[in-house]
Amino acid sequence: MLWRRSKHGVFNIAHRGARSLAPENTLAAARKALECGADMWEIDVCLTRDGELVVVHDDSLERTSNSKAIRPERNPWRVHEFSLEEIRRLDFGSWFIDTDPFGQIAAGWVSREEAASYAGEPAPTLEDALLFTRRHDWLINVEIKDQASTPGDAVIVDKVVSTIETLDMEQRVIVSSFRYDYLEKLRSLNPHIAVGALVLQLPADIVGLLRRLGAEACHIHHSAVDSASIFHLHAWGFKVLVWTVNDEGMMRSLIDAGADGLFTDFPQNLTRILEFA
Ligand code: G3P
Ligand code: MG
Repeated sequence: MLWRRSKHGVFNIAHRGARSLAPENTLAAARKALECGADMWEIDVCLTRDGELVVVHDDSLERTSNSKAIRPERNPWRVHEFSLEEIRRLDFGSWFIDTDPFGQIAAGWVSREEAASYAGEPAPTLEDALLFTRRHDWLINVEIKDQASTPGDAVIVDKVVSTIETLDMEQRVIVSSFRYDYLEKLRSLNPHIAVGALVLQLPADIVGLLRRLGAEACHIHHSAVDSASIFHLHAWGFKVLVWTVNDEGMMRSLIDAGADGLFTDFPQNLTRILEFA
């Protein structure tokens, strides 16, 4: 059972992999998250033009790949306008070396050699990410991104479910989304896959919402949670996973408040805090 598998009683969830140490949503970031002792990694999935599930956060490939440089004619580089083969030819690692988005190369936490090894890093498919997770006896949170106004909207949930089922990964996955209709559909297709509802603010009837979705967890933004709301959700039997918590003081307060898990870009720091808690 997924919920029994945190090493320190609070899930250390590497948001988009350990994305302070390696390019987000890549297997390189997953490897760093594992090394850091994370209990789980979180990824974002979108659908390509040819109906393949690819691990990318934004609607566009521009920020996290070299798409703009090598395919300028494809502006605005929408994920759903590229085939998987086209995406596979892109480099999702060099932007990390060039921009050092969390300053960890400059600070010396990522060596120059390690940073250089990220050049050419590909975007994984959902299958790649699940296989990596299974191979390392690990857990994964698959966030399904909103595919509104794209052909993928009608089919992305079916594809996520069948990929998880084919790889027999129901016990290692929690699926989340801001698209609650996706989550309802997922539960109707396979009630054995755990679901977390993403919320930016706590709706008045959060319990009603989570029940309607068949969710086991509320994935809540850190600005919208406090010990009273955690107590309330626990009283109704729901887990509370908080995103995205990078400040160490906030990590400590949320642990003290009873959060069941924290999404963080710095799983290395959360591991240290949990080990000494
Ligand atoms: O699951 C928490 C978090 O991933 C939601 O926001 O934009 O980082 O996918 P985002
Ligand atoms: Mg996400």
